Amino acid sequence: MEVIYQTALLKSRIGALRNSGRTIGFVPTMGALHEGHLSLVRFCRQQNDITVVSIFVNPNQFNDKTDLERYPRMPDKDLALLRSTGYDLVFMPGDKEVYPEPDTRVFDFGGLDRIMEGKHRPGHFNGVAQVVTRLFELVKPHKAYFGLKDFQQLAILRKVTSDLNFPVEIVSCPIVRECDGLAMSSRNMLLSQEERKRALALSQSLFQAKAMKVRHTPDEVKDFVTGRIQSSPGVDLEYFEIIDGLTLLPVSTWDDRHDVIGCIAARVGKVRLIDNINFSS
Ligand code: PAJ
Repeated sequence: MEVIYQTALLKSRIGALRNSGRTIGFVPTMGALHEGHLSLVRFCRQQNDITVVSIFVNPNQFNDKTDLERYPRMPDKDLALLRSTGYDLVFMPGDKEVYPEPDTRVFDFGGLDRIMEGKHRPGHFNGVAQVVTRLFELVKPHKAYFGLKDFQQLAILRKVTSDLNFPVEIVSCPIVRECDGLAMSSRNMLLSQEERKRALALSQSLFQAKAMKVRHTPDEVKDFVTGRIQSSPGVDLEYFEIIDGLTLLPVSTWDDRHDVIGCIAARVGKVRLIDNINFSS
């Protein structure tokens, strides 16, 4: 197990590993690790000879400066968690290692970024695509692991890797939740006790929405969730959309040709949380 801070050293380690014919699995993260991240690391370890984890709070994907400043950073705790989970390489670069020059690339997501996160966080996915493609170039993974918690991110990264012909398999991993249903997130630790309770409105309304599917249309379910969140004290809804999991376009029927997903984003106090549920599984 080795922690690497510099791109040059990472490249030489990866070169040697690939020459020895071993398969490389990669888990990109922004740190403040929790069981959701660790589940990705476990899948990666099961399916690859070598597991590489990156920890890098990518400034380019934060459209809000305060959000970037407040983002939790706890490298020592992260490394201890990774040591007990198991890994081969951890890459913890500084900004200049990832971006020796400013990254000016502009990606075309074919409209996948027009709604939800893309609409509410302008430039966010462009920054995600910049860092993930840069990390892919450095780590050269055979497989890369992403959580379904960030559903739109996964769809966008699948498109980017396929458009750019990256020889990497994108593996999606299920959402890991706290015992009471709250989706795990690094941002949860920024919630006060009261806000933590209020945040349950997100997952609870998603579970209720799924139970409503048999007797209600997507529009009715949407109205229910919107109303429920709007009447939850201290929770500000940004969006709730019921979308086709492939095109990310809103659906008007439960025609399950592709998975139908309900995606929600809300602010609880100053903390912005997202979650989603698969209506088709
Ligand atoms: P971060 O929010 O740290 O998440 C890293 C990975 O963990 C992502 O693929 C995310 O979907 C997954 N993840 C987070 N919470 C999860 C949960 N509760 N269950 C399952 N998986 C979960 O997403 C990012 O970082 C960044 O955008 C990144 C891809 C690293 C690029 O900077």
